Amino acid sequence: MANNSIHGMWSSRLAFILAASGSAVGLGNIWRFPYLASDNGGGAFVLVYLGCILLVGLPIMAAEILMGRHGRMSPVNTLRKLTSEGGHSKGWVVIGWIGMAAAVMILSFYSVVGGWTLHYAWLYVQQLFGGAPITDPGATFGALLASPGTLVFWHSAFMLMTVGVVAMGVEKGLERAVKLLMPLLFLILLGLFAYGVSTGKVGQAFSFLFTPDFSKIDGNVLLAALGQAFFSMSLGMCGIMTYGAYLPRDISIPKVAGTVAIMDTTVALLAGLAIFPVIFAFGLDPAGGGPGLIFTSLPLAFNDMPFGIPYALAFFVLLAVAAWTSSISLLEPPTAFIVEKGKVSRKGAALLAAVGIWALGLLTALGFNVWSSVRVFGRDLQGAVEYIASDLMLPIGGLLIALFAAWVLRKEITRGELSDMGNGGFLVWKILCGVVAPGLVLVILYMKIFG
Ligand code: TRP
Repeated sequence: MANNSIHGMWSSRLAFILAASGSAVGLGNIWRFPYLASDNGGGAFVLVYLGCILLVGLPIMAAEILMGRHGRMSPVNTLRKLTSEGGHSKGWVVIGWIGMAAAVMILSFYSVVGGWTLHYAWLYVQQLFGGAPITDPGATFGALLASPGTLVFWHSAFMLMTVGVVAMGVEKGLERAVKLLMPLLFLILLGLFAYGVSTGKVGQAFSFLFTPDFSKIDGNVLLAALGQAFFSMSLGMCGIMTYGAYLPRDISIPKVAGTVAIMDTTVALLAGLAIFPVIFAFGLDPAGGGPGLIFTSLPLAFNDMPFGIPYALAFFVLLAVAAWTSSISLLEPPTAFIVEKGKVSRKGAALLAAVGIWALGLLTALGFNVWSSVRVFGRDLQGAVEYIASDLMLPIGGLLIALFAAWVLRKEITRGELSDMGNGGFLVWKILCGVVAPGLVLVILYMKIFG
């Protein structure tokens, strides 16, 4: 059992918590969560989402971290090691491959959306120096989607930022940046929430988000909420497993998993409570906002509030940073895998992976304009990639991870990695991971396909 990973190690418990919450907190919380709540009936979606975090996300997060820490390699090689060491079927290595494929697909559209945040930050820089204000946010957003050149430019810029950090190794730049910037993002969201309170519409936002209308719960809502729980916690594609591979052995897995889950959920709920009051205050439709939701609603608030322009700039810069600390965790698994092949350096590996993912991202970028008539599963190209990766591959990957950790890995390993849990706690983890989480994933997939 290797005590260190060849790729480097986190310097402390705090470093891991920051890196893992940096991975978890991102566009998923501030861009994706509000728009999915909007598209899926509000309260019903939020309730299922919270249930999934607790019953599916948390146990699988512990499973990913413990598998990573035991294997100490990229997902595919961690799985190879765990299976050969324990004499288990090599078939389980498919978990690593699904994970890698999901990472590539998610990063391909994540980078395009990360580019949107950079573009908006730039728009507000221009406004700060007298540029034209955004008076019709819908039209501004529409113009962005209609321009392949602008989309590809910012997608490229975002990908360059991502590959820059991953190429240098994660410890140096990122640990420090995350420590400073994540609390700032939290403060900005609190400020937006306070603005929401001032509109007098927070009550309405509250009831939209937290009053479940059970008649709205169907296979689609369940699957969207489950997929979002995986997406937001960075689970199901071995990203957290990869971060776990760099986790020193004396750190408590349940504690760090719990901390990351709490941070992630708090930021998502706060984002919802910041955005929906704006939607109600300006008479927008809370339903069916789609992926443009925050870009077509928040600029209205920024126009209205005192110091709105510098505030908007800060918001989009920090959102870009949050996306950045997540995107590196998507590039890390394929990079580590290429490094382990032993033919290229870390820099070369990061670049190789990034170029391929960038090219795949063109599907998303051009799907909004040049190929806008293309439909897959009734969705545009971006929606289709997002749906296949987040709502199908992540839950399937998570299901296999849960089953493998609970039923296949030998108990000495799982018990040893979770050694600071009492016997009762360990049993609870085992039931959640081995029965409840896989059961819920299967029921939801079943309802979606046959319901
Ligand atoms: N969790 C991030 C977000 O909410 C996105 C992300 C990073 C991710 N790493 C991941 C999603 C791994 C799924 C799997 O924005």
